[in-house]
Amino acid sequence: MPKRELDALLDARLAEVPGWHAPDDPVRLGFAMTAPHDLALETFGRFAARNPNNVGLHTRFGDGVRGTRRLEREAVLALAGLLHADAADGYVTSGANEGTLAGLRVGRNALRAADAGRVVVLASTLTHHSVAKAAEILGLELRLCPAGPSWRLEAAAVEAALDDLTAQSSAGDRTGVIVVSTAGYYNTGLVDPVDEIAGVLARRAADGGNLRLFHHVDAAHGGMILPFTAPEVPFDFRNAHVHSIVLDPHKSGLMPYSCGVFLCRKGLMGHGAVPAPMSGFLDETITGSRSGAMAAALWSLVFGVAADGYRQVFRHSLAVRDRLADAIRAADPDAVVLPHPATPSSSPASPTRAAASPPNSPSATAWWATRCPGPRRTARTRSGSSTTSTPCPT
Ligand SMILES: Cc1ncc(COP(=O)(O)O)c(C=O)c1O
Repeated sequence: MPKRELDALLDARLAEVPGWHAPDDPVRLGFAMTAPHDLALETFGRFAARNPNNVGLHTRFGDGVRGTRRLEREAVLALAGLLHADAADGYVTSGANEGTLAGLRVGRNALRAADAGRVVVLASTLTHHSVAKAAEILGLELRLCPAGPSWRLEAAAVEAALDDLTAQSSAGDRTGVIVVSTAGYYNTGLVDPVDEIAGVLARRAADGGNLRLFHHVDAAHGGMILPFTAPEVPFDFRNAHVHSIVLDPHKSGLMPYSCGVFLCRKGLMGHGAVPAPMSGFLDETITGSRSGAMAAALWSLVFGVAADGYRQVFRHSLAVRDRLADAIRAADPDAVVLPHPATPSSSPASPTRAAASPPNSPSATAWWATRCPGPRRTARTRSGSSTTSTPCPT
């Protein structure tokens, strides 16, 4: 095809993709994506022509020493530190679907190594479907606890489900349970009481019994927000009984698609290792070839935007969210708006965009407005309720 014709066709398709910065571009309300940061786009372009392949894991001691593999190790370990890991492994994934698949795979294999015959995944009815997908791929049974009055996975529901599984197991049999908590539900932004759930698991592990336990946290939504808006919410490796976490920098981390990050406690990745004899390394990841340019782009934001930059973005998001709340109250005096300080947004603008936003732009808001049945109409916001030790599942 002649270049001019090719360009015309590509331009036509590009025009069909919504943009971010023009006045007539759509406003994303509470949508799980961001306008990518210019620095990430620039860095991606800078490395893409060399087409570096980051296949494999680069956080092992002695690995990730050069080029984009080094950038991946540094970015991933910085994010692990943000989530209070003492020692972690991890890698850049295509997103949270893959990161959750990686977590459940490591969990399943670790539980099997601890002699669990049957392995069950326990989550809430509001859990993102990526958990059901991972359970299906891995051939695991899925049990969904009804979300409690708080619209979250409650520790009491986990306790009851564990009692039930204990009662079902015959003497001498071990049942493995992978509990999946969520730090930022897709529809509401609510955050499970991860510390309470981890507390239940710690108690059950200390009591012995026939259950073997693993805990994965889906922090696709909240993982890049809560450390900056509500650092006191303990959804992460502060809990000894959190074994793995997935983050999604392509949601609120200002990264373009596809960029997730899988993290787990050091010592666990080996449960997913497959030798790659032709290439001479151990592959602990789900994917094979991976983009080194994407890892470089992530590194540029982790160290270039850094905590201060992300804090500034989310401060802006909170302010815009509050303006929207005021507008809802003004438009509907019966509305009950329940804000939460911790979970402002699922689609923040980048700092450059933030600075350019008109005062009333709702581009960075994530209010969750719901009409409840009954005489009093209710509008609620996403409300996160409030969002290294033993490496082996217990
Ligand atoms: C809570 C949660 N988990 C997982 C995912 C899946 O993320 P991804 O599309 O990056 O695989 C989403 C996507 O919106 C999500 O909201």
